[in-house]
This record gives sequence, structure tokens and C-alpha cells, in this order.
Amino acid sequence: NPRPFAYRKRVLQCDGVSLAALAESHGTPLYVYSQQHVLARLAMFQQAFAAVPHTICYAVKANSSLALIKLLGEQGAGFDIVSGGELERVRKASKKSLDRVVFAGVGKQVAEIDAAIGAGILLFNVESEGELALLAERAEALGIEARYSLRVNPDVFADTHPYISTGLSAHKFGIDINAARGIYRKARKYKFLKAAGVSVHIGSQIRAVDPFGKAMDRVVGLVMELREDGIHLTHIDAGGGLGIEYTDAPFDPEAQVAAYAEAVLKATEGLGLHLLLEPGRFLVAQAGALVTRVLNVKKNGDKTFVITDAGMNDLIRPSLYQAHHQILPVKQAAGASAPVDIVGPVCESGDFFARDREMPASKPGDLLAILDAGAYGMSLTSNYNTRPRPAEVLVDGDEARVIRRRETLKDLFGPESL
Ligand code: LLP
Repeated sequence: NPRPFAYRKRVLQCDGVSLAALAESHGTPLYVYSQQHVLARLAMFQQAFAAVPHTICYAVKANSSLALIKLLGEQGAGFDIVSGGELERVRKASKKSLDRVVFAGVGKQVAEIDAAIGAGILLFNVESEGELALLAERAEALGIEARYSLRVNPDVFADTHPYISTGLSAHKFGIDINAARGIYRKARKYKFLKAAGVSVHIGSQIRAVDPFGKAMDRVVGLVMELREDGIHLTHIDAGGGLGIEYTDAPFDPEAQVAAYAEAVLKATEGLGLHLLLEPGRFLVAQAGALVTRVLNVKKNGDKTFVITDAGMNDLIRPSLYQAHHQILPVKQAAGASAPVDIVGPVCESGDFFARDREMPASKPGDLLAILDAGAYGMSLTSNYNTRPRPAEVLVDGDEARVIRRRETLKDLFGPESL
């Protein structure tokens, strides 16, 4: 079972804790995560790369919970951040990890750059020549050397949803790999910049490992060219993007990460560089579920709609990427299944979790668990329709603790004035 969710006495548990009990004490919609599962996934990754010097920089955007950042930081993880806000999350939850932070993003602002230089992060993943000039200017103004990698765009196709594919020249991300050498050479004039590495990220939810190897081959070619120019990098960043299985098809995460590591390590073998990896989804997606209560069941024509108290504002992946998530009844019931649409209460036809899904009959009050919601679930929530965000619970064995309380309307109205 690649997930920490399983039935015991016909009730779905997260490790040793019943989801029915959690819904009872904390209300719904409720995000539930397994601490042991996250730690096991991190250990799997670390193990797969154990043969080389490496740092696993968890992609904070996947799930930005302070408690998870703290947990991962304690195990030696670094962090891949994309904003000044994410930098402050790392500072708050895992201050000693600041020197293991890499900062990506195509639109970094002066205040964010200054804060990250001041915090002594490991390096900036720079996405344009203009940004490099700005970084040089800010480093000089602060009188602190800043380390950078160019994030190159390798023009490699990876089969995933178009919204989360990033490694083609048609995408806004990175610098054309063919232009990178010239930029590193020109950047030698910047006294306060140090060329530390090169980075690449080709997209997310990528299941085949060859595109990662192909992208790394191209990046390694660049590293060798730079050596001819006397530019000796110390780091090489393979980005994130390793996918998981969202259906109930068999999935062996250990084999998946081993194949991925083999592709990356083969391409970078003998280079003597410190390897950086930026997994997000692979570490946290399957650790989490969104627990929701059925409000109503109704029929329109031939269709049956199961209406839940969670909506697209709580988990947007099905609406935004037509993503498939398994949905299980928290209490296993005998009886026939029939196709239903599982939808939220938000006023949009795109507010659905599943369409024409074979499910055992549900009735108002029943609980459902939407699986694999630990990544890009809570971090993509919104208050659309003036809906307070869900609470989050972290399970450790047979104990559970609230790591984020449910939002209240007071929280929502706070910044507004009449
Ligand atoms: N590094 C960079 C530079 C990234 O842009 C991303 C994700 C990652 C690492 C982590 O990728 P992961 O290992 O999690 O695939 N909201 C979408 C996914 C967006 C991914 C954005 N970038 C979803 O729910 O599928």
C-alpha cells in the first residue's frame, strides 16, 4: 500500500487514527497527513541518492505547512522556495536550514531578493539575464556575495498535463540552454556574484524517468563547456517533478525513486558536483487525504450528484487539471455501486472532485476521503465564495494534533474595511 490510509474494522484510518474520529473532533473539510509516511518518503529519496553528496530541497509550494517544514528540516532536508513568503516560512519553522535553501521563480522582487541574501540562502535559481543583473545590483548594495545557478530550459518534452509542464522553450521558465554559456561568461564582471551551479526543472507529475536523464545530459554538457571557460560550478540541481500514482493501480514508490535516481546519477556520474533535488509531490502527496462530509444527494435527469462540504476552493486539482483522485467512503458499506458525480457547494460547474465515478451509495452525513491530497491541496486553497479554509491535522502513529486550526469568518474579514 503506497498510502498510509487503510480500513480497520471497516473504518478508514490514517496510520493508527480513525478518520471518522478525527472528523468528529475537528469537523470537516479536514486535511489529514501522516508524519511517518512523509518521513519514510524523505528517507527513500535520501537512500536513493546516498552514493553521492546531495541535498534534498523540499519544494515548499507543494505543502507549505510550518509543521511539515519543521519536520523535514529536522531530517536534514533543504528547501526550494519561490517567494519571500516561503522564505519566512522556512525561517519560522526551520531556521537552521536557511543555508540549504534554493530560491526559484521568474518574478523575484527586490525585497524578496534582499531578504534571501540577508538570510544566507544556498543559492538563487536565476531565470533571466535581467534577474541576474538585479541580483548583482542587490548583492553589491548589501555588500554580501550572492551565489547563483542559471535555471536553464533544456527543451525536453515530458508527458504531463500542459499546465504543469515547464521544460519546453515555449514555456516561461528558465533560460534557453544555448544562451546560458554566454550569460555565465558575461556574469564574471559582477563582483558580488558567484556562479555556484546550474539548475533545471522540466515539469511536475512526470512518471517516465528518461526525460529527467535527457535533461540532465544537456545540463552536464553545459557544465563541461563552462569548465573550458574556467568557470567551475560546485552544484547541479535536477529540480523536482517525480510523479506518483493517483489511481488504484499498483505503485512501488521505492522502485520509482530508484529508477529516477539511476537516470539522474548516470547523467551526472563522475562530475564531482553536489547534487540538489527539489521533490515536492513525491514526498507529501500520498501522505494526505481531504476528509469531507456528504451534505446532500440529488438527481438531475440521469445523473446523481453527491454534494460534499469540501469544494474546489479546498482542493482545486480536479477542476484545474482534470486530475483524478481516488475517493473512498470513510465507513465501508456493503451494497451495489453506481456512477455518481462528487461535487462541492461552490457556484461553478467546474466544482467537482469526480465525474461518473462508480461509488457505493452515500447519504447525507456520510464521510468521504479524497486521497493523495497532501501535495498542492491546502497550498492551493482559496476563500472563494467566502469559505474559510479547512483545518489540518498531523497524525503520528496513533496520535493526532492540529497543525492549523480551521479558519473563521473573523480571519477572513480581518484585512477589510467598510
Ligand atoms: N522545483 C521547481 C522549480 C518547481 O517549479 C516545482 C513545481 C518543483 C520543484 C516541485 O515539483 P514536484 O516535485 O512537486 O512535481 N499544482 C500542480 C503542480 C505545480 C508544480 C509547480 N512546480 C499540481 O497540483 O499538479
